[in-house]
Amino acid sequence: MELKSIILAAGKGTRMKSDLSKVLHEIFNKPILAYVLEALNTISSENFVIVGHQAEAVENFVKNNYENSKCILQTPQLGTGHAVSMAGESLKSFNGQVLVLCGDTPLITSTSLEKFIKFHNSKDSDLTVMSAVMENPTNYGRIVKNTDGSLHSIVEEKDATSAQKKINEVNAGIYLLNWGKVKSFFSELKNNNAQGEYYLTDIVSMGVEKNLNVNSFIIENNEEVFGINSKLHLAEATRILNNRNAKKHMENGVTIVDPQSVWISSETEIGADTIIYPNCYITGKNIIGSHCKIGPFAHLRGDVELGDYVKVGNFVEVKKSKIKSHTNVSHLSYIGDSELGEHVNIGAGTITANYNPITKVKSRTIIKDGANTGSNSVLVAPLTLNKNVNIGAGSVITKDINSNALALTRSPIRVIENWVKD
Ligand code: UD1
Ligand code: CA
Repeated sequence: MELKSIILAAGKGTRMKSDLSKVLHEIFNKPILAYVLEALNTISSENFVIVGHQAEAVENFVKNNYENSKCILQTPQLGTGHAVSMAGESLKSFNGQVLVLCGDTPLITSTSLEKFIKFHNSKDSDLTVMSAVMENPTNYGRIVKNTDGSLHSIVEEKDATSAQKKINEVNAGIYLLNWGKVKSFFSELKNNNAQGEYYLTDIVSMGVEKNLNVNSFIIENNEEVFGINSKLHLAEATRILNNRNAKKHMENGVTIVDPQSVWISSETEIGADTIIYPNCYITGKNIIGSHCKIGPFAHLRGDVELGDYVKVGNFVEVKKSKIKSHTNVSHLSYIGDSELGEHVNIGAGTITANYNPITKVKSRTIIKDGANTGSNSVLVAPLTLNKNVNIGAGSVITKDINSNALALTRSPIRVIENWVKD
C-alpha cells in the first residue's frame, strides 16, 4: 500500500533558547529534520512537513534539498492533532497509509520504521502507535491499556491521574494510520484538556470507541525516539549518534583508539584497517580508504575522499579534496578544494590558499603524483604542481610548476659572522 508521511515541525522549541528553528539545529552539520526525512527515503513516497515557527527558513531548507517533500503552514499552532489536520487538503483523495512523526527525533532509523509498518500490516491494524518503555516516563503521554491488554487511550502527563503517571509505557509520537479510516477524526477533535490543545493522541481513544483495530508497538531501542527539546538534548543526541557510528566502523574493522573523543558523521565511509587516533572531528560526507592513519587532532570537513594508506596527521584540516593512495599530509596543514595524486608528501605547515576574500572565489589546487612540498609552503590557487615537483621550504607558489622542477621563493640566507660579539 502506498505510504505518505506527515512530519510535525511547527512548534516553537522554546527550550532551545534560539533564534533558529529547533528542527534546523544541526548534528554533524546537518539539520535534525534532515535525519528524519532521510530515514523516510525508502519508505515514504511523499512527505508533508508541518511548519510554523521560522516557517520560511524550514521551508527553504526542505525545498532546496528534498524533491518529494512539501511544507504546509500551521498558524496558529493549536496542537499536534491540529497540525496533522493541516495536511488534510493535500491528502483528500489519498487512500493509503499515513505515517506521522515528529521533526525533532533525528535518531529514528528506517529499520525500526520498517518493523513498525510490518507490525501494523501483520495485525491488519487501522491505527498503530509506537510506544517505548521508559524507566522515567515523565513528560511523555502514557499508554493506557484495558485489563485484557488492549489499547484504551493515550493520556498526556498534564492530564494524567497519579495512577496513570505510574505507567511507564509511553507514546513515542510516531503513528501509522490507514488514512481512509482515520481522516474524519481530525474534524472531531476537542481541546478540552489541560493544555487547551487539539491532541493528536486523542485519535487513539476515538479509534477504540469506533471499533477500529488499534494497536501499540513497543520500540526495541528507546534511543531512537529520543526527542530534542534543548541544547543539552542536542548534545546527547549527537553523542548517541556518534556512538552508533563508531560502533559500526569498529565492527567493520576500523581501529578507533578512543571512540569518546572521535566524532564521525553518519555519511562517512571508512575502509578496514584504518586507524583513527584520538580527538578527530569528521563531519559531512567522506570516503576514507583502508590502512589510512587519521589524527590525532585531525579535522575532515566533508567531501573528502582518501585512497588507501593515506596519512592525515595532527592539526591537519581537509575539506572538499581528493587525496590518492600513499600520500602523507602529516602535520599542521590545510588542504582545501584540492586534488593530490599518489605518493605525494605534504610538508608540515603547507597551506592551500584556496580563497580570495575580495572576489570571494574559491580555486583548486592540483598536486600530481610524487610531488613534495617543503615545510611552511603556501600554494596560492588556482595552481598545479606537476609530477615530482619539489617546493622549497618557506615558499609562496603562485604559478603552475612543470614536472620534475624545484621551485622556491626563499630569499638567500645572509650570515653576519660575529654579529653578537661586535
Ligand atoms: C507529544 C505527545 C505525547 C508524546 C510526545 C512524544 C501529543 C498531544 N502529545 O507530546 O503523547 O509522548 O509527543 O515526544 O501529541 N507541533 C506542531 N504543531 C503544534 C504542536 C506541536 O507542529 O501545534 C509539533 C512540534 O513541533 C513537535 C511535535 O509536534 O515536533 C510534538 O509536539 P510537542 O509539543 O513537543 O509534544 P509533546 O508535548 O512532546
Ligand atoms: Ca506540548
